[in-house]
Amino acid sequence: MNVLVTGGSGFIGANLVRLLLAERPGWRIVNLDKLTYAGNPENLADLAENPRYRFVRADICNGELVADLFRTERIDGVMHLAAESHVDRSILAPSVFIETNVRGSQVLLEAAREFGVKRFLHVSTDEVYGSLGPTGLFTEETPVAPSSPYSASKAASDLLALAYAHTFRVPVVVTRCSNNYGPYQFPEKLIPLMIANAVRDLPLPVYGDGMNVRDWIHVEDHCRGLLAAFEDGKDGEVYNFGASSERHNIHIVKQVLDLVGKPHSLVQYVKDRPGHDRRYAIDSRKAQAKLGWAPRRRFEDALAETVRWYVERRAWWERIISGEYLRYYEKQYGARR
Ligand code: NAD
Ligand code: DAU
Repeated sequence: MNVLVTGGSGFIGANLVRLLLAERPGWRIVNLDKLTYAGNPENLADLAENPRYRFVRADICNGELVADLFRTERIDGVMHLAAESHVDRSILAPSVFIETNVRGSQVLLEAAREFGVKRFLHVSTDEVYGSLGPTGLFTEETPVAPSSPYSASKAASDLLALAYAHTFRVPVVVTRCSNNYGPYQFPEKLIPLMIANAVRDLPLPVYGDGMNVRDWIHVEDHCRGLLAAFEDGKDGEVYNFGASSERHNIHIVKQVLDLVGKPHSLVQYVKDRPGHDRRYAIDSRKAQAKLGWAPRRRFEDALAETVRWYVERRAWWERIISGEYLRYYEKQYGARR
């Protein structure tokens, strides 16, 4: 089976490519990634000589190149992860989110339609459902009501993917997952950002009152869910993934400080994210019942392991936290203090 993974040099993509190569010895993986600021070839550098892996640096919006790749690589299935993925950046500069997340997804769907792939897995997010009050969970039936340019662009591409399933019978499956954590996450996201700042004794910027809730899942559990949905999902269906690990942001930030061995006085409350969703929580009973999937990692153990991973790989994230990222950090946090 020849599988195209888009965005394989990013956080979830890199973890997924490793899982697929290990778990499906008969598969060949083609990783199509533009290497934006979030894509890091170092994440998969050790696979360079692997005959079952090929990296192609390109933009998913380039229709000609994408069609050529489907033809020459005889692509049987697509796992589409490439995206602009950070909410704060979508507030600073939304256009590229529409270009990559909406137009790029349509280019891939069109190629999938033309070349008749057996599966198109569209990897999406619980953020398309908007924000919850203090109780309740997102199910697959929850209406789509995105709040940020990022989540609106993801919702648009979800609907486009489902429309291609309905109208053109492209074998699309859509997955919506909660907040991931684990190795190789770009240090602009909550957990790696807080670890990197704690290690360097820098303030830990907590938005608003720190009482927003996210539902955390280890990236390995998500990737096993993606594989299950790819193989056993039903055409035109949506599956939610989450690990029932709701936590207030401030709780996590203090846990990170404890694990790194730094004082809670490093916490710095800053101006809130505009339109900040208050609470996410996922009901993943459908995926558990229909795909035979269940999360395996316990949050507290996996968070401790994740903190160790970043502490031991300071060189990995220090190389990233330079150049363009420094300019973004100043723009995002400079005016918030
Ligand atoms: P990421 O930002 O770490 O990686 C995105 C990757 O896509 C990068 O390697 C980047 O170079 C690539 N990319 C961006 N634009 C591209 C383009 N035009 N052409 C080709 N490649 C391009 O993101 P992530 O956190 O790994 O998320 C992957 C996917 O999973 C996204 O679709 C995201 O919406 C979804 N998702 C993420 C989470 C999470 O918690 N991180 C949760 C649910 C769903
Ligand atoms: O729910 C899934 C989504 O999770 C994915 O679709 C997105 O790609 C991913 O980035 C993530 O979105 P969030 O906005 O929830 O993640 P982020 O790590 O940016 O923020 C998590 C929470 O922490 C959120 O409530 C905002 C808060 N936060 C974040 C940062 C970066 C802070 O308080 N301070 C910060 O500096």
